Amino acid sequence: MLIRPAKTIAGILTLPGDKSISHRAAMFAALADGRSVIDNFASSADCSSTLDVLSRLGVVIEREGTSVRVEGVGERGFSQPDEPLDCGNSGTTMRLMTGILAGCRVEATLIGDRSLSSRPMKRVIEPLTEMGALIRSNDGTAPLSITAGRPLRGIDHRVMIASAQIKSSILLAGLHAEGRTTVLEAVPTRDHTERMLGWFGAAVDTSKPGNISVIGGQRLSGRLFTVPGDISSAAFFFAAAACFPGSDLRVKDVGLNPTRTGVIEILSRCGVTVTLENKHLQCNEPVGDITVRGPIEIQGSRERITLRGDVIANAIDEIPILAVLGTQFAAGLEIRDAGELRFKESDRISAVVENLRRMGAKVEEFPDGMQIDRSDLRGAVVDSLGDHRIAMAFAVAGLLAKGSTEIVGADCVDISFPGFFETLESVVIS
Ligand code: S3P
Repeated sequence: MLIRPAKTIAGILTLPGDKSISHRAAMFAALADGRSVIDNFASSADCSSTLDVLSRLGVVIEREGTSVRVEGVGERGFSQPDEPLDCGNSGTTMRLMTGILAGCRVEATLIGDRSLSSRPMKRVIEPLTEMGALIRSNDGTAPLSITAGRPLRGIDHRVMIASAQIKSSILLAGLHAEGRTTVLEAVPTRDHTERMLGWFGAAVDTSKPGNISVIGGQRLSGRLFTVPGDISSAAFFFAAAACFPGSDLRVKDVGLNPTRTGVIEILSRCGVTVTLENKHLQCNEPVGDITVRGPIEIQGSRERITLRGDVIANAIDEIPILAVLGTQFAAGLEIRDAGELRFKESDRISAVVENLRRMGAKVEEFPDGMQIDRSDLRGAVVDSLGDHRIAMAFAVAGLLAKGSTEIVGADCVDISFPGFFETLESVVIS
């Protein structure tokens, strides 16, 4: 994909449904009694992997455009799959389904593509094993083979890595466990599982800050669910708008869950004008319209912006695009406490550092992050490394650069946002 420099960004967009929320909606609908209809289901390839896995477990799913009808099979209703369940590139599918299958009556093996097969799974295997599950793995990576019919018991588990996938996997196993399961998290992570379990009729206790508990044996009931627009996809457009004077970009019906809005707060901190309108609750998730007007107004400041601590978990999927944005900050950007990025679809720290350097930026790499100096970017050949968020972040970098930028392996945007380049083109004024 070839990207040419932009003059500014303007338009009104509605974006595909949120990926994290779509995965959960499909899974919870499958576990529920009765029919669910999910509207604005994500078009992402990752969410199709979740639908495929559920279909192979005997769940009847009909998809028409962005509407998905799921005939729930109830708590114990999966049928024995005759082949391994392919999670594709999707960490959320593999980790959450491992939690769901741990207490089920079917024997299942979860497999994934090359990237997913190298990602760490001990983080879910260990707590699930403590609950009584039997999971065989390739030394802590996929394939994961889950033994059928293991009785689970509730546990208290303190998560040492800030991860909504680990939390969700344990809570979902907790639904099939005896007694109470509590996840203790030091750093808050996205709480879609907690909110959506409530929507599907399960009681989740979050009254004690940092403790999330479910009691086993609860049943879910089929519901209508509308997925908000994906704020992590919107972030690329917000960042692009932030960089140009005269820009004016509105994204409608986007998710505004406070565990995901770190990117908005960071943009506001940089003097970008961000306006929130029409905020309301939709199926337990906050949703609204966001307008971003550039440019970044910290050009006079000598203080480097630093992202560290709790904000990292809140903006974990937005770090690559924020790093690109950092090249436009007067005193640059430092990112710390983000070592988890090395275990995403690619090692996102080295992928960002390498590609920014190719575009002429001055960047220093740390084990847990990077420091980016204010830099004028120049067009170059950059490599997505098969990672959708790297491809999209460097598409935005290409808009800012002098000369054209070629993104190798740009097709991988389909993992979260098929049509990304067409949508980007629709708001670029060159
Ligand atoms: C996700 C949680 C995050 C995020 C991923 C989706 C989820 O991963 O990076 O894209 O849907 O729960 P971790 O939980 O591993 O941080």
